[in-house]
This record gives sequence, structure tokens and C-alpha cells, in this order.
Amino acid sequence: MALCVAIALLGGLALGQEVSDRLLQLAPKSEPGVKLVVRGTVRDEGGKPVPGAVLRVFQTDARGWYTPTKVMDEPNARLQGYVRTGADGRYEVRTIRPGGYPHAPNARKSERIPAHIHFEVRAEGFALRRLQLVFDDDPRMTPYWREWAKKDRNPIAKVERGYGGKRSCKCEIVLARAR
Ligand SMILES: [Fe+2]
Repeated sequence: MALCVAIALLGGLALGQEVSDRLLQLAPKSEPGVKLVVRGTVRDEGGKPVPGAVLRVFQTDARGWYTPTKVMDEPNARLQGYVRTGADGRYEVRTIRPGGYPHAPNARKSERIPAHIHFEVRAEGFALRRLQLVFDDDPRMTPYWREWAKKDRNPIAKVERGYGGKRSCKCEIVLARAR
């Protein structure tokens, strides 16, 4: 996997942060959990692929924790990385299915936040796009959360099982031009 150093061209990247080209191994192969491959294409509003877009991807572990000691420490998520789209706008992230945040046993359904993977997508000439990928088969995806996903344009992924039971899903991303 080719790695290069992010340049300050795209705001929001830490200088010296490694950015994978097209393929990001987000979770180490030894990471506990169900392995999952997320694939997609970044496009403009006219459907044209956007090459060179940089995606920051971060998520919880299989228990629903962002770090081994702090459950909600999103900014310092252990499972996080950067990937740049190829000439065809495509990218691939190899990871595990995230766990949903732990909640109190008596929490209301609206307080049981679905498992999700965060994406922050930057490309020159486009507005920053933040989204949370959620999963259609997650028992926490109640009508309340489906409505939330629709309203905030958060994709609801259908996880498919391929050859050998390998799980994959799609996360197609559309960027609006910067104004
Ligand atoms: Fe989160």
C-alpha cells in the first residue's frame, strides 16, 4: 500500500499525517470483531468521480469504545485513518463492524445510538462533507434513527456476505461545490 504525507493543501489535515492511496487498512488484522470492507466512490453533484478527495475515517471498536479507556473519545479514536480517492474517485476501507455505544439498561430507544462509522471528506473546490455510515441490519435502527439518517443524509448501508462469508458494504459519497 502506497503511503504519502498529507500536504496542507486540504484544510483540516494534521501535517505529517499519513494518507493511504485508495486502500485504507483501518483496523489491524488482529482487531477483534467482524471484518468488514467498505467501498465507495466520491462524486460531484453531477455524478462525476472526484479524484484526490481525502477521507478521514474513524469509528469505535467492537465494544463500542473509541479508545481502550474512554468510551466517547471521538477526537482520539484508536481506529482512525486517512485515504485518498483514486483517479476514478474510488476508495476502500478494510475494518471491522463498529459496536454501538454502551447505554444504560433502561435507556429509551432514541438514546440507543446506532453503530456507525464517521467520514469527513475533503476535496479541493468542494465543501467539507461529514457523514455517519449506519447499518440497515442494526437492531438500533428504529424508525426514529432511520428518520435521523434520512434528514442528515447519513447513508444506511446494507451489509452483504460474499465468497467465504466476507462482509462488505457500500458508502457512496456526493460532494457539493464550495461557494
Ligand atoms: Fe461517533
